[in-house]
Amino acid sequence: SGVERLGEMIAEARVIVPFTGAGISTECGIPDFRSPGGIWTRNRPIPFDEFVASQEARDESWRRRFAMEEVFAAAKPGRGHRALASLYRAGKVSAVITQNIDNLHQASGFAGEHVIELHGNTTYARCIGCGQAYPLDWVRHRFDGDGLAPNCSACDEPVKTATISFGQMMPDDEMQRATALSQACDLFIAIGSSLVVWPAAGFPMMAKNAGARLVIINREPTEQDDIADLVIHDDIGEALGPFVAN
Ligand code: OAD
Ligand code: ZN
Repeated sequence: SGVERLGEMIAEARVIVPFTGAGISTECGIPDFRSPGGIWTRNRPIPFDEFVASQEARDESWRRRFAMEEVFAAAKPGRGHRALASLYRAGKVSAVITQNIDNLHQASGFAGEHVIELHGNTTYARCIGCGQAYPLDWVRHRFDGDGLAPNCSACDEPVKTATISFGQMMPDDEMQRATALSQACDLFIAIGSSLVVWPAAGFPMMAKNAGARLVIINREPTEQDDIADLVIHDDIGEALGPFVAN
C-alpha cells in the first residue's frame, strides 16, 4: 500500500523535509481554505493593501480573528503533527516548512527555530510599521474597548496578526531557509496542501529538481501529483498515524 511504501521511503531517507498545509490541522478542528466549508468558501481574503488602507478592513480582519479564537485556543496537535514530531525526535527530520499559522508544530514538540513559517503565525500580533510584537490580548482589550482595530503604541501604524496576507511580502529569512532545506533533503513530503498558493507551492518542485524523492499526501488530487514519486490520496491521520511513536 501507499503507507507501506512511505514507510520504506522514510527508512531509506537520511534527511526528510515535511512541508505542511491546512489539511494537517483539519482533524484538530481548524478549517482549511479551499475544501467545502473552508475559510475562503465563507469569507473573501482581505488583501494586505486593503488592510493598510482601510480601518473598516482592519476591524473586519480582527472580528474574523477573534471569532476563531476558541477554535485556535482549543486545537491540539493531530496525528500528522505527532508523526512529524516523532520523526524529528528520531533525527530524521531537522525542520518542518509550513504554510500554517496555527502554532501546532511547535505544540507537538518542534523547537521554534525548526518551524519555518512561510505565512507567519496567528497566535500573536505585530505592528506593520516597526514590527513590534503584541500579545493578542493587548489587541483584544483595545478592540473590545472602542470597536476599532488598534494602532501601534510606538509608531501609530496598524497592528495585524503576525501572518502573511495576499499581497504582503514573504518573510526573507524563512524563504531562504526553506530553499536551503528543500535543496538539501533526500525526501520531501508535502502534506495537506492544495499546492496552489505561490511561492510556497514552489518548494515541492524545487526539492524534486534538486534530486529528492517527492511524496504528496492529500485527500484531493493536486496540480503537482504528476511529478511526485508517491501520491497518497487519503486522510492524513490515517496515512501518518502509523508513524507516531509511542
Ligand atoms: P487548502 O485549503 O488550499 O488545501 C488543503 C488541502 O488539504 C485540500 O486539498 C484538502 O483536500 C486537504 N485536506 C484537508 N483535510 C485533510 C485531511 N484530514 N486529510 C487529507 N487531506 C486533507 O490549504 P493550503 O494549501 O494550506 O495562505 O492553503 C495554502 C494557503 O492558502 C494558506 O497558507 C493561506 C491560504 O490562502 C495565505 O492566506 C497567504
Ligand atoms: Zn509600530
